[in-house]
Amino acid sequence: MGEKLKNCHGDDWEPLVLEPIPENLLREPIEYIFADHYRLRQVIATMDRYLTAGIFAMPLADDTTADVRVIQAYLCDELGLHITDEDEGLFPALLQQCRGDRDTKNILTTLQQEHEEDFALLPIITNGFAALLADKVVSQRELFETSVARFVNTQRRHIIWENNIVLPLARRYLEAKDMESIGRGMAARRSIDYPG
Ligand SMILES: [Fe+2]
Ligand SMILES: [Fe+2]
Repeated sequence: MGEKLKNCHGDDWEPLVLEPIPENLLREPIEYIFADHYRLRQVIATMDRYLTAGIFAMPLADDTTADVRVIQAYLCDELGLHITDEDEGLFPALLQQCRGDRDTKNILTTLQQEHEEDFALLPIITNGFAALLADKVVSQRELFETSVARFVNTQRRHIIWENNIVLPLARRYLEAKDMESIGRGMAARRSIDYPG
């Protein structure tokens, strides 16, 4: 087991920790979404590293188990909220403000299609992680690993588009009332009070 750990991680290995986003940031929902992208990038970087190291082909060690738990919790409990924040909050508000702008509309349509692809891939990925966390072999491991690879690659590109095009457009065009409406929707989705 010790040998395996040495092979999986270099000396610089650190456990995956996703910092919670301060609730106050719901008053600045674009920055909240930006912060969530940072956390998602941590998740996909770890998934990618473990995939490359062949970690998913064998029983998980204690430290990799802890990381896979963090990944699984994010994928099961948080990613859906993030995608809905965009699909039902950010994107419609931006479309409203950029009405008639065909490029923006096309970008948002593509990103929404990718969200649907995420939802199609997620059950394969989370079922695989659930098996690993239960000390079982992943059934259809090839499909699982292909899905993880596809998810990692799609997310990388997706986040670049959102961070570099969509969020700057939103910062530029959304008004205070849009921000409040998006932030209130995000708070309600998480069953927390909108910060006063
Ligand atoms: Fe997205
Ligand atoms: Fe996003």
